[in-house]
Amino acid sequence: MKGLILSGGKGTRLRPLTYTRAKQLVPVANKPVLFYGIEALAAAGIRTIGIVVGDTQAEIRAAVDDGSAWGVDVTYIEQDAPRGLAHAVLISEQFIGEDSFVVYLGDNLLAKGIVPFVDQFVTEQPAAQILLARVPEPQMFGVAELEDGRVKKLVEKPSKPKSDLALVGVYMFSREVFGAIREISPSLRNELEITDAIQKLIDRGLAVTPHIVDGWWKDTGKLEDLLEANRLILETMESRIDGDVDSDSHIDGNVVIESGASIIRSTVRGPVIIGARAKVSDAYVGPFTSIMNDVKILRSEVEHSIILEGSEISGLQGRVNDSLVGRNVKIFRRPVTPSAYQFMLGDNSKVGIR
Ligand code: TTP
Repeated sequence: MKGLILSGGKGTRLRPLTYTRAKQLVPVANKPVLFYGIEALAAAGIRTIGIVVGDTQAEIRAAVDDGSAWGVDVTYIEQDAPRGLAHAVLISEQFIGEDSFVVYLGDNLLAKGIVPFVDQFVTEQPAAQILLARVPEPQMFGVAELEDGRVKKLVEKPSKPKSDLALVGVYMFSREVFGAIREISPSLRNELEITDAIQKLIDRGLAVTPHIVDGWWKDTGKLEDLLEANRLILETMESRIDGDVDSDSHIDGNVVIESGASIIRSTVRGPVIIGARAKVSDAYVGPFTSIMNDVKILRSEVEHSIILEGSEISGLQGRVNDSLVGRNVKIFRRPVTPSAYQFMLGDNSKVGIR
C-alpha cells in the first residue's frame, strides 16, 4: 500500500498567505498541517509516500525532505498546474505501480487518523473506498448517497442533499481508478474531478464502499476551519514549560512554552502554544492561540488566533481575536497624532476594525 498526499493547488481561499507560502505548511498548534497527514499515513503502516507538488514545491521539499524524519520514503511528483485532484492522481500512476493507495489531501486533518479506514479497505478490497463525515450543512460539500452498504451516487454541493454524509479529503483506490480518470472530462471549473472518477467506478458496477469517520475532520484551506482545527488540536495538548516565565506572570490551563521564549508581566490562559524565542510582555494571550517562533506580543491582547514567525503585535487597545497573521507582520500603535489608521497590506488582505 502506498500513500499519495496532494500538496499542489491554488490556495485561493487562504490568500494573501498563499502568495508566499504553501497552505499545507501553515501551522496548526505550531506544526505544519502537512506533517499531520504524513504522520497519519505512517501510523497506518504506509512507508512509501508520493507528494504531489506545484508552484510551492521548493518550500515543501525543504520542510519534508526525504521523509526520514517520519521513517517513510518520500517521492515528489510535479504537477504543472492545478488541473484537479483526479489529474494529480493520474500523473502519479507510475509512482503507484501495481499497488493500492491512499490519497490524502495535504490540507486535511482528522482527529483519529486513518488506521480503521485502511484496515477496512484491506479486508474488503473494493475498487475504491471513500471517507464520509456527517455535517450540518451538506449542501456545502460533495455528498454521498448510500444503498446496501455501497455508494450509489456522489453529488457535488447539491441544493437538496439526500444525506448528511460529506466527502472527506481521504480516499482509497485500487488501480481501477486510473482507467476511470482517463474516461472523464474536465468540469466547468476546468479541473479533472475526483468525484467524477469515483462516479465512473460506480457506473461501471465496481464496488465503492463508504467508511464513516469517527471524530472530527477539518479542511484547513479556509480561515474559520483552520482556526477551528487549531482549537481542536490545542485542546489535546499537554502542558510543558521550557521557556522563562517571570514571577509577575500567570499561566492558567494547558500551555506549552518552548525554550528561549519569555513571558514577562503577562497572563497566558491555555490552551495556548508559544514558540521558541517568542516574547510576550505586558500582554494577555487567551485560549486557542498559537504563537510561532520569534513572535513578539507586547502590551496587547490576543485570543483564538494563529500568529506566524517573526511577527510583532504591540500597543493595541482592542483584543486581537479570530485572526491569522502571516510571517514578519507588524501591527502596532503609532505614537504620534493624527490618530489615523496606517496600512501597508498585501493583495487580498482582510482587516476588521471596530
Ligand atoms: P483544494 O483545497 O480543493 O484546492 P486549492 O488548493 O486549489 O484551494 P482553493 O480552493 O482555496 O483555491 O485542494 C485540496 C488539496 O489538494 C490541497 O492540498 C491542494 C491539492 N491539490 C493538488 O495537489 N492539485 C490540484 O490540482 C488541486 C486542485 C489541489
